[in-house]
Amino acid sequence: EVIEAAGQVLLPGFVDLHTHLREPGREDTETIDSGSAAAALGGYTAVFAMANTDPVADNAVIVDHVWRRGQEVGLVDVHPVGAVTVGLKGEKLAELGTMAASQARVKVFSDDGLCVADPLLMRRALEYSTALDVVIAQHAEEPRLTVGAQAHEGERAARLGYTGWPAAAEESIVARDCLLALHANARLHVCHVSTSGTADVLRWAKDRGTKVSAEVTPHHLLLTDERLATYDPVNKVNPPLRTESDAERLRTALAEGVIDCVATDHAPHAVQDKDTEWSAARPGMLGLQTALSIVAETMVRTGLLDWRGVARVMSERPAEIGNLADQGRPIAAGEPANLTLVDPDAEWTVRGAELASIAANTPYEGMRLPGVVTATLLRGRVTARDGKIC
Ligand code: NCD
Ligand code: ZN
Ligand code: ZN
Ligand code: ZN
Repeated sequence: EVIEAAGQVLLPGFVDLHTHLREPGREDTETIDSGSAAAALGGYTAVFAMANTDPVADNAVIVDHVWRRGQEVGLVDVHPVGAVTVGLKGEKLAELGTMAASQARVKVFSDDGLCVADPLLMRRALEYSTALDVVIAQHAEEPRLTVGAQAHEGERAARLGYTGWPAAAEESIVARDCLLALHANARLHVCHVSTSGTADVLRWAKDRGTKVSAEVTPHHLLLTDERLATYDPVNKVNPPLRTESDAERLRTALAEGVIDCVATDHAPHAVQDKDTEWSAARPGMLGLQTALSIVAETMVRTGLLDWRGVARVMSERPAEIGNLADQGRPIAAGEPANLTLVDPDAEWTVRGAELASIAANTPYEGMRLPGVVTATLLRGRVTARDGKIC
């Protein structure tokens, strides 16, 4: 098969370090099947499936199921993220070693969904991870500072009567874990950075030699708490949408490498969990099929990144952080390639109902966006072409 690619950009297949596929537990909103299709259509050849499933992915049985199911579907490599802790209150360290040695070969462990508030537990997790050469991806929120929080702490939240989520809740826990990671000589990955102050903390930690990496979501690059004006729960997300000056700083931090990569935090939710009053709505939004376009809009159109830079933040860095040797890099002659072809000049209009996810909670409904993924190849095989799964 010949793919006509004149005028298009060829990139290493995208790698998403932060995807919520709802299998097991909430297959009414996403499955490994539907989520893999969304990923392939979005240009991804590997995703890391977050551990906050039901039951939680805190043991080898569940992570092996996720990995095997992803391979059966065959559209994208689904790397399960293991939970750092076990137990309803997350009071005990999970068997990281067992999951790392399982068929799924878990490379990233996260507290997404259940924050590690106890510093001694986090220290133990980081020390354990050093011995295993895996990454602890921390979800960057101090739960004792976010009780009841519904929106970014500021004028808008106050005016609407929502309990605020202060920037300090993120910045203080990131600072704590950067110091603990340096102490343990561990690799720490900070999920969904949302504030300007977190960029300051990251730069400070990196300057001191901390092995810390960080991601920013497409929605935190583009959207701000101005979105609260409409009361639409589609905009409710953890961490919350921040101010325009935060978003601006996140874009420059990504361009400068203070923030290493883009991750979607793709979070499918059922209509009944979103189409309700703001305080009752679940946080999170879809991201896999819109990520490239939001990066094109916020980073390429603005001149902050060229397409070489897009390859760095969407493919190379996430593959390095996630320990994927076969992703995010140039291919030797004859080697099966993981590739994404993008038409940089084409535009498309987002329709939630047309996305491959079972859920439809996109904050970009009706928006016209630049950058169309025209083909995705996983190990030399076309998985998506012109908006259709192959
Ligand atoms: C995530 C989800 O829906 O699983 N939601 C979100 O707003 N990011 C959970 C989480 O990361 O808090
Ligand atoms: Zn949390
Ligand atoms: Zn999170
Ligand atoms: Zn998440």
